[in-house]
Amino acid sequence: MSKLNSFKSIADQQIVLQLRNLNKIFNTDTPLENHVLHDISLQISPGELVALVGTSGSGKSTLLNIMGLLDVSSSGELCIQGNSIQGLCEQKRTQLRSESIGFVFQFHHLISAFSVLDNVLMPLMLRYGKPSAEQISYAEYLLNEVGLANFKHQKTNRLSGGQQQRVAIARALVTRPALILADEPTGNLDTQTADEVFSLFERFNVEHQCAIIIVTHDPRLSSRCPRTVCLTDGRIVYDGVSVDFKIP
Ligand SMILES: Nc1ncnc2c1ncn2[C@@H]1O[C@H](COP(=O)(O)OP(=O)(O)O)[C@@H](O)[C@H]1O
Ligand SMILES: [Mg+2]
Repeated sequence: MSKLNSFKSIADQQIVLQLRNLNKIFNTDTPLENHVLHDISLQISPGELVALVGTSGSGKSTLLNIMGLLDVSSSGELCIQGNSIQGLCEQKRTQLRSESIGFVFQFHHLISAFSVLDNVLMPLMLRYGKPSAEQISYAEYLLNEVGLANFKHQKTNRLSGGQQQRVAIARALVTRPALILADEPTGNLDTQTADEVFSLFERFNVEHQCAIIIVTHDPRLSSRCPRTVCLTDGRIVYDGVSVDFKIP
């Protein structure tokens, strides 16, 4: 267990992510000032599968980037596994991000010159350098889980879009994160491939008990998540069970 985590209370550890009254304003005090997120409060427990929905421009990616410590809020509080990120230096933020969070984006950002296996190992290599035998075998296990065991030595640019996204999912899981943030991960996939990729999220959510927040425009997929959070103009207008959610 890292130093960052050593002083957490048991109660705090049970909440993966907590946001309190979070605001984001771009270009503050300029003519282009844009108040994008308004008083966002949200709590995510271990093993939750949450759909984050809302029209284009409603602030989903901005929120995900802040939750993933890729961007900072203008005000409000953010805790990840009981660690308040307020006042953390960049190095500690990076440590917390790489310990706790995995990312999957619409465009997978794989490194085409590298093999499938090395792409999956990348988050570990960035953090620890040369991967251990145990890390390599876990990456191989994940590639097997996403159905790509036979492709591990291939370059990623020879894979289909769905296969590349499955590599990106294995890469997000390789650090065993408590939280996966996925920003429209099925956005550029055909319906059947999107279904298959989404099923992988469902499976890993159950088997690894990692909390997953998934941005999707597809009501078929959001309805498969037990919980839906809907943003309209940067405000949470719905947070509850998906079956009761009506598009505003
Ligand atoms: N870096 C930025 N600088 C200024 N405005 C931004 C920036 N990123 C996003 N925005 C604005 O924030 C709003 C929400 O964008 P975004 O979070 O990308 O929405 P969504 O992901 O829901 O489509 C938009 O009005 C967008 O123009
Ligand atoms: Mg977006």
